[in-house]
Amino acid sequence: MTLARDTKIGIIGLGRLGAASAEVFQRSGYELVAVSARSDVSRRRAEKCIPNIPILCPQEVAERADCIILTVPDDAISAVSDEIVAAGAIVAGDLVVHLSGRCGLDVLGSARMVSAIPLACHPAMTFAGTDEDANLLASSPFGITSLPEHKHYAEGFVQAIGGNPVWIPDEKRTMYHAAMVFGANNLISLVATSIQAMKAAGIDDAGRFLAPILRASLENAIVLGPKALTGPVRRGDVGTVVGHIKALREEMPGLITGYVDFARFTAEMALNEELNAPEILHKVLATLRHVNTSEQGD
Ligand SMILES: NC(=O)c1ccc[n+]([C@@H]2O[C@H](COP(=O)([O-])OP(=O)(O)OC[C@H]3O[C@@H](n4cnc5c(N)ncnc54)[C@H](OP(=O)(O)O)[C@@H]3O)[C@@H](O)[C@H]2O)c1
Repeated sequence: MTLARDTKIGIIGLGRLGAASAEVFQRSGYELVAVSARSDVSRRRAEKCIPNIPILCPQEVAERADCIILTVPDDAISAVSDEIVAAGAIVAGDLVVHLSGRCGLDVLGSARMVSAIPLACHPAMTFAGTDEDANLLASSPFGITSLPEHKHYAEGFVQAIGGNPVWIPDEKRTMYHAAMVFGANNLISLVATSIQAMKAAGIDDAGRFLAPILRASLENAIVLGPKALTGPVRRGDVGTVVGHIKALREEMPGLITGYVDFARFTAEMALNEELNAPEILHKVLATLRHVNTSEQGD
């Protein structure tokens, strides 16, 4: 079952994902009845991507809509849901949907109390506020959770966007989201830092220079898992690891802790996965222990 074509959509929170959701529902032919946007940034975002759609307060959005999408920060979902329920803006049969990965159905408890249909539908994607966000949303996998009797609503909601639903047990959502953040958000920090370090080595167009190896590494990691690992830690090239730390101490000392922690993490993974002889990997780990505690770092 897909979302009924005459469903009236309202969006509370016109941030990055709120704007992408607004665009996708409009593009799919659904009636977007109103959105809420408080700050100038959010209002400008609304004017750019959905001109002519009324910008109202959350209660008014919820009153006009029968599918209310809460794209506010995770920590605000519960309070916003409580607020619109207390104002009498949610009626039995309304869909109340949040798009958070971490949160489950408990944050929509007040909506459930008035016989609305609470859904957690998380697009497993990153929305950084670019023009591509709506396209990314429309082809995204979704981690979804609902009450058993509401499963068809959750699937219908995701299908209306064009996404691919995958069921996540309510009690596993935090772990599911931690796993995603560990990979996706840390990847951004790693790549951005790697670009900075490359610039310290005198390479100006560092992003373009790094792109091929980063893309190949990501693809290999997805296909091969730990077996994709290459580099000095796996090989046991202790001299190279120590050389890196010396160079970082001169150019980017703030990176040493992160480099050492990650190298240790990598060596332990290589050990567990038997990617090299244990004595070689133990030597790397012993060197890293020494580097981390020594005054000179080598
Ligand atoms: N961005 C992503 O990559 C991504 C991916 C998957 C899921 N999500 C989920 O999507 C949700 C929104 O994330 P986001 O990244 O789009 O956040 P965001 O860009 O920071 O936008 C949050 C929006 O919520 C509004 N807001 C904050 N508190 C509010 C309140 N109490 N009442 C009404 N509006 C309020 C803000 O409005 P004002 O600016 O007007 O104050 C802002 O427009 C979160 O649950 C997040 O987990 C995000």
